[in-house]
Amino acid sequence: MAKRAVNFGAGPSALPDSVLQEATQGLLDFQGTGIGIAEISHRSKEFTAFVANLESLIRTQLDVPPTHQILFTQGGGTGQFSAVVLNMLARHRLLHPNLTDDERVMDYIITGSWSKKAAAEARRLGGGKVNVAAQSTHSIPSHESFKFSPDPALIYYCENETVDGVQFSHDPSSPASFPFHLLPQDTLLPIVADYSSSFMSRKIPRLADHAVIFAGAQKNIGPAGLTIVIVRQDCLVDVDAAAKLGAVPVPISMSFQTLADSDSLYNTPSTLPIYIAGLVLERSRELGGVQYFEELNRKKADKVYSVLKEGEQKGVFRGKVKEGHGSWMNITFDVLGDGAEAKFLTGAEAKGMKALKGHRSVGGIRASLYNAITEEQTDGLVTYMREFIAANTQ
Ligand SMILES: Cc1ncc(COP(=O)(O)O)c(C=O)c1O
Repeated sequence: MAKRAVNFGAGPSALPDSVLQEATQGLLDFQGTGIGIAEISHRSKEFTAFVANLESLIRTQLDVPPTHQILFTQGGGTGQFSAVVLNMLARHRLLHPNLTDDERVMDYIITGSWSKKAAAEARRLGGGKVNVAAQSTHSIPSHESFKFSPDPALIYYCENETVDGVQFSHDPSSPASFPFHLLPQDTLLPIVADYSSSFMSRKIPRLADHAVIFAGAQKNIGPAGLTIVIVRQDCLVDVDAAAKLGAVPVPISMSFQTLADSDSLYNTPSTLPIYIAGLVLERSRELGGVQYFEELNRKKADKVYSVLKEGEQKGVFRGKVKEGHGSWMNITFDVLGDGAEAKFLTGAEAKGMKALKGHRSVGGIRASLYNAITEEQTDGLVTYMREFIAANTQ
């Protein structure tokens, strides 16, 4: 086999070698059944036990309280852009049947491309009005600028903007934190968070206060095709009863209540991605859980931001995100000068470092440092960046 590249891609992205090797065995024989994981029935006792264990690996590592269910589904983050709107509008309809669509408000916080897309989907589906509660580019909006509605159907934010490299800080004293303190305290808040590109990379602040947290698996924990949804019990509602009151009907495969009632096995789940995610999270548990990755990811990000700063001082690089608002997972910057970006990418490729090109919509460089990227691989990138600075400074 050719030497594996260091894959700094934003998703699908790197997975641990040891897990991939183990998975090749599982493809031939899943847990001694003599049947491969891509072939075995999702209703077999071995597979259902595997799903239950995956649930518990997430629950224990993230401290998910019993007030919340963990669901597995398909459709990716984009599927959840629709599902959260439909389920949360149904919940709101049951709570407030007589409001008009204009009075039924959904608060969106826009910090980059993915939250913008999610808000566009909410507008497209109808059944409620989108209020942009705060918005900014290249930074988290200032806390003073947030304008939450009095009783919204949902309050939506994207914790880590994968394309733009903007992430909410998990330090509550930081101006880049999510302003939970501006929300009412003694009520079940309809907070919905897209954690697609930071799930399992560090603890989730105020997890218990969220109505829904969702994530596609294909960044930190597995292949594309599995979506994880953590839903508070009061958001598992009878969507058909809501539809009778005028809510937008919810496709059965998107109904949180249906998924919960069937232990995420209402229809055939994505068996292979579930399997690989289970192996990844078992390995994560053995290493010390999310806390282990939190420390590692902090160190990795600090190292890259630090060399980025050196490059800024020398006029070689320019970070795209305000200091303190940058992502630990996706670090975005420009390489200054004619042809310099192409030179940077070619030099990186020559050293076996791939997929550093920024998203096509924004250009520049994006280094994604998901859980499977080791500290050693990060050091390799840092060394290369430092060499590039030296070679391009007069
Ligand atoms: C933060 C975030 N949300 C949503 C999505 C969309 O996910 P999917 O492609 O699984 O629909 C992505 C994809 O990269 C993402 O990074």
